[in-house]
Amino acid sequence: MEKFIIEGCHKLEGEVNISGSKNSSLPIIAASIMGEGKSILHNVPDLKDVQTMIKILNFLGAKTKFENNTLEIDPSGIYQFTAPYEFVSTMRGSICLLGPLLAKYKKARFSMPGGCVIGPRPIDLHIKGLKKLGVEIENEDGYIVGKVDKLKGNKIFLGGNFGPSVLATANILCAATLAEGETIIEFASCEPEIVDLANFLKKMGAKIYGEGSHLIKVEGVKNLKGTEYTIIPDRIEAGTYILAGYITKSRIRVNGVITNHLLALFDKLEEEGLEISYGDDYVETIPKDKWKAVEITTLPFPGFPTDLQAQMMSFLTLAEGVSLITEKVFPERFIHVGELNRLGADITLDGSKAIIKGVKSLKGAKVMASDLRASAALVLAGLAAEGITEISRIYHLDRGYEKFEHKLNALGAKIKRVKEGV
Ligand code: EPZ
Repeated sequence: MEKFIIEGCHKLEGEVNISGSKNSSLPIIAASIMGEGKSILHNVPDLKDVQTMIKILNFLGAKTKFENNTLEIDPSGIYQFTAPYEFVSTMRGSICLLGPLLAKYKKARFSMPGGCVIGPRPIDLHIKGLKKLGVEIENEDGYIVGKVDKLKGNKIFLGGNFGPSVLATANILCAATLAEGETIIEFASCEPEIVDLANFLKKMGAKIYGEGSHLIKVEGVKNLKGTEYTIIPDRIEAGTYILAGYITKSRIRVNGVITNHLLALFDKLEEEGLEISYGDDYVETIPKDKWKAVEITTLPFPGFPTDLQAQMMSFLTLAEGVSLITEKVFPERFIHVGELNRLGADITLDGSKAIIKGVKSLKGAKVMASDLRASAALVLAGLAAEGITEISRIYHLDRGYEKFEHKLNALGAKIKRVKEGV
């Protein structure tokens, strides 16, 4: 395994380019298997999660070629319809293959994804929606076994106790495109990644209306064709670099973003007393030595994203005053708190709330990564901490950040990737 050794307190400067969105790429790669013929996807980030998805497609029989962020997928050779535990357990996001498999091949055998450090990852909404489209679903030895003769459009309320589900919306949207008749998805996810998926499906020939709102209407078609498509930029990666600029009190320029996807982050940064300069596709951080504590509640898009909660928490450990973060999407998503406190932060937990008392400075220490966004939060804290911070198990980062240390070092950070035990 590998670890990062970070020398803190270096100012950053210069520009960083944002990669394609991980959370767009995964459902779009999954949806590509529904096409008659090859699809070509551009701006696909070279990440472990994308590599895992490609491995699953190859396992099913699809042919793939991934070079220079362009992924070609030819689904014509798919001959099996099961996703084994060893794949699904490493990446819960692979559940977004369920809808496409059932839509195109009318059957699927899928390992239950299981939970992870950010909380239980139920799939009851996925199953509810698929059943509403006529899919018969059994649970056999930890596998979901689904089959359907003909998908039939229906009116589906897809909201759960935590609001919409992104990947359940993706699964039902995919299945509905090849169902007979009209499907209405009420309380669908509004995430930009769902809009991206809908745009890809429409290029394949799907008839979809209302994506980006909570009510999506789909008119089923007979088949979809392979197409060429470019993935949107990763708003969470962009938010992570923006916070890297502010936590190191640096002026950096983040290029190739869709700033309309980041308005909730900008709103909180302004409330913290910071200035942001941004256009349609770039952001410049304007450094300040101090920033104010705030209250944040994570919500589905367009609310403050849960995937930036840990990174913002790192930033607030150095704010003036006491901040409160309430996690409404994944109430247990605080695995980073213990490690941030090892770096000198002063955070206490009360159920789904984290109380963050601002401290003057963080001190480097040995910490452990445990989840993708929690690990990014530790890197941000390490950039600001006095002295050396060692972060072990950084394979978590490689799942969702393309060339992370290279991009940060190009901005002036001092991060070394070494083998653990060195
Ligand atoms: C997607 O996960 C993202 N992953 C997550 O990003 C992100 O945190 C999450 O959406 C929320 O925005 C990908 O897109 C690959 P959900 P997803 O279903 O779709 C509950 C990252 O770091 N729920 O929207 O799995 C669930 O427990 C990852 O990039 C049910 O109750 O999340 C949670 O409380 C982490 N029943 C809430 O809904 C269900 O059937 C939102 O989960 C499904 C979900």
